[in-house]
Amino acid sequence: MSQAKWDELFSDSAREMKPSPIRELLRYISNPEIISFAGGNPDPFIFPVSEFAAGAIVLGRNGMEILQYGATEGYTPLRKFLSKWMAPRMGRETEPNELLITSGSQQGMDLLCAALLNPGDAVIVEDPTYPGAIHTMRNRGAQFLTVPCDADGMRTDLLPEVIETAQNDGKKIKFIYSIVNFQNPSGATLTTARRKELLDIASKYGLLIFEDDPYGHLRYEGGHEPTIFSMDQEGRVVYACSFSKILAPGVRVAWIVGPPNIIRKMVMIKQGADMCTSVISQALVASYCDDGYMDEFLPRIISHYAKKRDAMAAAFARHLPSDAQFSVPKGGFFFWVKLPGIDAKELFMKGIEHGVAFVNGPAFFANGGGTDCFRTCFTFAQPSDLDEGARRLAEAIADQRGE
Ligand SMILES: Cc1ncc(COP(=O)(O)O)c(C=O)c1O
Repeated sequence: MSQAKWDELFSDSAREMKPSPIRELLRYISNPEIISFAGGNPDPFIFPVSEFAAGAIVLGRNGMEILQYGATEGYTPLRKFLSKWMAPRMGRETEPNELLITSGSQQGMDLLCAALLNPGDAVIVEDPTYPGAIHTMRNRGAQFLTVPCDADGMRTDLLPEVIETAQNDGKKIKFIYSIVNFQNPSGATLTTARRKELLDIASKYGLLIFEDDPYGHLRYEGGHEPTIFSMDQEGRVVYACSFSKILAPGVRVAWIVGPPNIIRKMVMIKQGADMCTSVISQALVASYCDDGYMDEFLPRIISHYAKKRDAMAAAFARHLPSDAQFSVPKGGFFFWVKLPGIDAKELFMKGIEHGVAFVNGPAFFANGGGTDCFRTCFTFAQPSDLDEGARRLAEAIADQRGE
């Protein structure tokens, strides 16, 4: 049946929408023969399945409450836990009106964009950045201003010129988006000095900072950098974190902290989006947290992923050609590889032929670029596959180069 007749009903923004590049890869990587370094998926073998299942006892205990609709702001025991558990990172316990539980950080990002962006407003993002952020912000009408990253994260020295040029062009900049720790995809962490500089620049130009931090707890070496939120004296930082990478993405529970008036607007938008994040899911997460498993399991997850990171580093050193440039991330999920002269989109198809998948560079660049780069995730593939995947990747590179 033809569906063309409904096309004219689509809104302007729906007409402009493109599918998420990473979600689109799923059709290739669902083939079990392919070793996937593509999606940013945690290792299912490290999910605390029995501890999480034990928490389901709350259903019997509090079923009448948690089978009911919940407050849009989130499930109170979970909000209380997060305010205390995050206090060392946030610099203080956050107030209830500063914190909103969301259905994944992806929703937090979408609600923030809905609260702040009019079509055509500008946002400043890192080059490269998380494709899911590009997708959400674009869907909400954002135009992108990009700032390159190096090994220390966003090049804050370039920021003032980007801001001034855009402001002189009459653009309205709404926020600066930074993935501060073990950035997706570059793996870089913003240094403390640059965090301060970012805050100073945001203050000078009157901008908001959106600090996205789903990987911050997963540090495999060195000490933690302070959050920008904890350094901020002016209430110009919105901070997001998630249970996806430190517990399980299937729970779809995350949180976002920020100035009460912004959080309040996001609550109103969420009322119209899904009323509340699944109360059952939040209650199971809260039960897991209150039983002390966050602190018990996190070190296990960290040492498990540190080994996998080392295995991917060793496999890349063993197999990839000598002109492949990558650095070993100190935390998070990803390696970012640059291969001068290669076309990463073509390499992706060669990779599929050779049985390995990754995400090619252009997906991470809001305004184009990254054609000779790609991202590999080391957390999902099983240890024996990390070496074999790197070997296949090297084969695909040689094949594409006609060697
Ligand atoms: C930088 C970044 N922000 C946000 C998200 C979304 O996470 P969630 O599963 O909490 O929606 C991801 C997921 O990979 C991410 O890498």
